[in-house]
Amino acid sequence: MADRARWASRTIFIFAAIGSAVGLGNVWRFPYLTHKFGGGAFLIPYILALFIIGIPLLILEFAIGQKMQKGAVESFRAINKKLSGVGIAAIFASFIVVIYYAVVLAWSLLFFLKSFNPRLPWAGNSKSYFFTDVLGLTESVNILGGIQWPVLTALLAVWIAIYFIVWKGVKSVGKVVVITMPLPVILLFILLIRGITLPGSLEGIIAYLNPDFSALLSLELWMAATSQIFFSLSVGFGVMIAYASYNKKKDRAVGNAYITSISDAAIGLLAGFVVFSIIGYMAFANNVPIEDAITSGPGLAFVVFPEALSLMPFAWFFAALFFLMLLTLGIDSAFSLIEGVNAVIADRQKNPNSKKIALLTCSTAFVLGIIFTTGAGLYILDIVDHFVTNYVIILVGLFTSIAVGWVYGAEKMRLFLNSSGGAKVGKWWNVSIKYIIPLALIILLINQLITDIANPYEGYPAWALSIGWAVVIIPILASLAVSFRKK
Ligand code: PFF
Repeated sequence: MADRARWASRTIFIFAAIGSAVGLGNVWRFPYLTHKFGGGAFLIPYILALFIIGIPLLILEFAIGQKMQKGAVESFRAINKKLSGVGIAAIFASFIVVIYYAVVLAWSLLFFLKSFNPRLPWAGNSKSYFFTDVLGLTESVNILGGIQWPVLTALLAVWIAIYFIVWKGVKSVGKVVVITMPLPVILLFILLIRGITLPGSLEGIIAYLNPDFSALLSLELWMAATSQIFFSLSVGFGVMIAYASYNKKKDRAVGNAYITSISDAAIGLLAGFVVFSIIGYMAFANNVPIEDAITSGPGLAFVVFPEALSLMPFAWFFAALFFLMLLTLGIDSAFSLIEGVNAVIADRQKNPNSKKIALLTCSTAFVLGIIFTTGAGLYILDIVDHFVTNYVIILVGLFTSIAVGWVYGAEKMRLFLNSSGGAKVGKWWNVSIKYIIPLALIILLINQLITDIANPYEGYPAWALSIGWAVVIIPILASLAVSFRKK
């Protein structure tokens, strides 16, 4: 068997891991959640969830990958055959997420290309530009509408780029992350300086961080903080296991996990300042209350922000900068998701051909992504995103902690981690992996289930929500089938 491919250096691994963690989630989800759930007070559950759940799980995923030297499925199989299904659920989650994540990158690419225009095409009516001109959004999820050809073309371009980034595995990925990790951070700093020097920015920042401590009492807030931590740290997807499996057994996993997670949280915080200072400016320029200016998700990056940018001097320049930032921020998250899947397929082959594997996964994801380029694409994206991020990855996190905490042995893994140089991990980690994480995740999952049954998500019709339930149930059935198959 050929030797396992390796990252060129520890720095490259850290760049790749940060590149995966820092993505669209930091720009469009974190700032909005902070504002929605009590401003500065949201930072309390967020930081607690980061330290109690996120960091221990990231350390754990790095440990599993380094110890087993395999992608998610084979790593779990090495712990116990019946656990290989946990890896299956993880790569299902990755594959589903990357299908729509790439579509969001396709929108970013379109906006980037349209920025090179003395008069931005969305100036004056960014809402109808995005929803009608770009997405061709239908009235409701019941009407599929047609394929939006520019979106589909951009999606193809995104997939061709991803293919040529992952086609030689970590060798090619390692070359690209040197640019795609730092560049968007530099661009965010430029946008920050622009943002805070605009009138109204202070009001925006106050709306972002002003604490409302009563929000801490809602379980929904804790679920939001936890699922955001998972999504943002790329935990529960098998991606960090795959990435760490290209390190040597004795490399420093604990320090790497701290660096990755703290950078990710810091960049989320930074993005919040950028987003809210510029929204504050927009509210000022349009003379509206800031509350009216804020929305989340696609609406934030593709409606509110483009409009705010169009009001600035040198609008086209800052618009191009912003969308280039989104593209470079998201692309390394997208290819990490594909690499997590590719690693699992390669593990099953004697002489894996990374180009063939990449061609298979990238082209399949592209074809499945066509559904998101239709007029109802945004609705379906919203539903699929909700169910994958609130159930599948949380379940994977739960079973990962049980697998190592109870089956493999938390203490055994801790000693493995501490046998390499660098930062060590204390006994608290065992407690976290064995008790706190499983308990917290079970409570949150049950609460989420009750909420979704009592209030159908966003009021979507039952048939549409069944797509969401399907993306939860199919990975579960697939994992059971793999875990309990004979032989
Ligand atoms: N962490 C990325 C973000 O915050 O946008 C999304 C992501 C990338 C999730 C890679 C999972 C993953 F494996």
